[in-house]
Amino acid sequence: MQLRDGRWLRIEERRTSGGGTVGVRTDITDLKQRTLELATARDLAESANQRKSDYVHHLSHELRTPLTAVLGFAEILRDQLMGPPDNPRYREAAGQIVTAGDYMLELINNLLDLARIEAGRMELYEEPCNLSLLVDATAAMMAERAARGSVSLNWDVPPELPCLFGDPSLIRQMLTNLIGNAVKFTPAGGRIAVEAALESDGGLTLSVRDTGRGMATDKIPLALAAFCQAHDRMTVPEHGSGLGLPLTCALMSLHGGRLSIDSAPGEGTCVRLLFPAARVGVDEAA
Ligand SMILES: Nc1ncnc2c1ncn2[C@@H]1O[C@H](COP(=O)(O)OP(=O)(O)O)[C@@H](O)[C@H]1O
Ligand SMILES: [Mg+2]
Repeated sequence: MQLRDGRWLRIEERRTSGGGTVGVRTDITDLKQRTLELATARDLAESANQRKSDYVHHLSHELRTPLTAVLGFAEILRDQLMGPPDNPRYREAAGQIVTAGDYMLELINNLLDLARIEAGRMELYEEPCNLSLLVDATAAMMAERAARGSVSLNWDVPPELPCLFGDPSLIRQMLTNLIGNAVKFTPAGGRIAVEAALESDGGLTLSVRDTGRGMATDKIPLALAAFCQAHDRMTVPEHGSGLGLPLTCALMSLHGGRLSIDSAPGEGTCVRLLFPAARVGVDEAA
C-alpha cells in the first residue's frame, strides 16, 4: 500500500503455530523507485533503438537514390548510349554523377565525423583564424547553390574583428552546414545573411540568418538530435541526413562553445555559433 506521504509499504501477515498473527511491514519505497527508474531507462533505450532502426532505413534510401544515379549515368557514359562521345548530353551525365557522388560523400563523411566525436577521437587542429577571410571563402563557395535556389546570400564580417582561435576547416564545415540548411529551407526570393559580432562578455558570435520556412519552437530539439529532422520526411521534399546540426553542435562543444537556434514557422531561422571569450583575440604573438 502507498502511504499519504508517498512511501510504499509491503504488508505481510503470518499465522504463528500458537494461533496468533504476526504482521510484517516493510518499507519498499526504494525498491519501487528503482523499478520505476529501470522501466524508464528501458523505455528510453527502446525508443532510441527504434529511432536508430528508422534512421538506418532512411539512410539506406538516402544513399540508394544517388547511387542509382551514379551507376545509371556511368553506364550511359561507358556504353556511349547517346551515340558518339561528342554529344553534349554526356557532360550533363558526368555532372549528375559528380553531384550525386558529392552528396553521398558528404553523408558518409558526416557519419564518420559523428562516430569519431562519439568515440572521443576527433582532434582539433587549432590556429588563430581570420574570420573575415574564412567567411568570405566559405560563403563564396555556397553562392552558386544559393543562386540556383534563387535566394540572395550576403555576408558581412568586419575585417577588424579579432581573430578566433579554432580549427579553420571545422569552422568552415559548420558554416557550410548552416548555409546549406538556410539555402535548402528558404524558398525562392528569400534572403540569407552571414554575420559575425563580438559579444559584451568578450565572446564571438557567428550567425546565419534566413527568411525561410522556419520551424516551431517545440521542433528545435528534434532538429538538434542526431538522426532527426524537424520537418516531416513525408511532407518535405528536401533530402537530408539529419546529421548537419547535431554534428555542428558537437563541433561547437569541442570548441568550448555552443549553438543556439531562433526560429518561427514561416518567418525564418537564425542559427548562432557562440564562441567563448577565451578563443577571441588570440593571435600568433600570444
Ligand atoms: N535554416 C533552417 N530553416 C528551417 N529548418 C531548418 C533549418 N536548418 C535546419 N532545419 C531543420 O532541422 C533539421 C535538421 O537539420 P540538419 O541536421 O542539417 O539535417 P538535414 O539538413 O540533413 O535535414 C532539418 O531537416 C530541418 O527540419
Ligand atoms: Mg543540413
